[in-house]
Amino acid sequence: MSRAGEIPLEPPLVRGAGAEPAKEDRTYLGYMAAALASALLGGFALAAWMPLAATEAVPGVERAPRLVQAHGWLQLQGWAGLFVAGMAIRIVPRFAGRRPVPARVTVPLLGLLVAPLVVRLFAVPWLDGEAAGAAALVAGILTAAGCAGVAAVLGHVLARGRRGREAWRWFAAAGAVWWLAWAPLAAWWGWRAAGGDGLAPAAFDDALAWAVMLGPVGNFILGVQSRSVPVFFGRRPPPARVMAGPGLLLNGGAGLLVLAMGLDGGGAARLAGAGLVLGGLGLCWGLPLAGAVRGRAHRLRPRARPAARFVLAANLAGVAAGLLMAAGGTAMVAEGGYAAAPLRDAARHLFGLGPITLLILGMARLIAPVFAVARTESRAPGWLERAPFWLLLAALGIRAAAGLASGAVSYDAWMHASAVAGALSWLAVGIFAADVLRAVRNERRTLAAIETAALGPGGRAQ
Ligand code: HEM
Repeated sequence: MSRAGEIPLEPPLVRGAGAEPAKEDRTYLGYMAAALASALLGGFALAAWMPLAATEAVPGVERAPRLVQAHGWLQLQGWAGLFVAGMAIRIVPRFAGRRPVPARVTVPLLGLLVAPLVVRLFAVPWLDGEAAGAAALVAGILTAAGCAGVAAVLGHVLARGRRGREAWRWFAAAGAVWWLAWAPLAAWWGWRAAGGDGLAPAAFDDALAWAVMLGPVGNFILGVQSRSVPVFFGRRPPPARVMAGPGLLLNGGAGLLVLAMGLDGGGAARLAGAGLVLGGLGLCWGLPLAGAVRGRAHRLRPRARPAARFVLAANLAGVAAGLLMAAGGTAMVAEGGYAAAPLRDAARHLFGLGPITLLILGMARLIAPVFAVARTESRAPGWLERAPFWLLLAALGIRAAAGLASGAVSYDAWMHASAVAGALSWLAVGIFAADVLRAVRNERRTLAAIETAALGPGGRAQ
């Protein structure tokens, strides 16, 4: 028997004449693997290397601005985006009482989402002049196609699914609309970067990155948590009316950031600043309600409880990011310029390492079927499970402190501290990837053992 808040294991397989064995939909593992590959080969690898290149400690100083943009987009589109798309495409049909999305849709869509990441990692940063511009345009157009595909799948499921008034539906619907909006915005990014020989204008790129963090990613962070996390901690999921205020602030903030992309100078900075203020307040208000920032996850099995600290740390980091966004955004509105860069850098990385990275690792352990067997084991969590938490916590502290201090210390000190944080977080994600592989192998073995037991001696159904 499973208790409320626990994700039950599939019942043992039953074989017999006319009985179809249930097939587990495993394409989410492809999305997870692609997100991990993008993080380890791209986003986090660049996080460790690019700050060293920027200070000439390793080769590549002339490529540094291109590597920074590549790092940002690989993290948002590859690490966060692929994970959010994969989990949303798996979970939303279940929440909405629909059949799983078939592999003939999810597999080609995964290919479409991965293609622009390959261009962003292997072409855009390494080319020059018109060739770099053309590669950026291709990356933008491919990104647009993939985002439109995710929006179409989620929109279809939500439109045909059971109706209801829970908060997660509103966030999932808003998230799907944002994936649709991301399509023309990504093509626009490609167009602007093509004009800049592969580099989009800094303010335009920054506003789009924040809009993506709040819109297509942020809505799912609040939506998926609101359905399950309060239950883990013994609370009821917050009703839609309670989440309406944070949802409006989050989406209003993302909308203002998009409007800022169309302007230049002081007007753009003021609008983007106002967007950061609204989005930041939305996070500070919404994360403690939809997720949890304190308490014990006593409704989880004892074996799964340690994973809840990822969720707590992620949400606390998200609230800190929200406060810094509000402070940095206020300074931008007041000055009509790109003020408070250290606050915004720290906020971006508290958000990226907190409600994105720590939450990905925590929620994967708590709800991904691949860890279902591990969640029932009686042994205590091993080092493969414990080390990523502490490594990420250290990386988060160092990266946020380096960002906050960037106005006061030398450029080299800021960048070298960042490189240390980058190496620690790469290691954390690498260890997690090894644990996913181990879980996939164990899961196969355990399911085979259950099946053998169900068949009994002589291979006959029991
Ligand atoms: C410890 C891990 C990380 C390190 C060391 C790191 C390092 C850096 C550095 C040095 C910059 C350039 C700052 C500047 O020159 O102004 C940067 C920018 C950025 N980072 Fe990270 N980062 C990390 C993790 C992340 C994560 C997890 C995300 C998002 C999920 C992220 C998103 C971004 C974005 C969007 C930018 C701005 C890119 C642009 O200007 O186009 N980073 N990061």
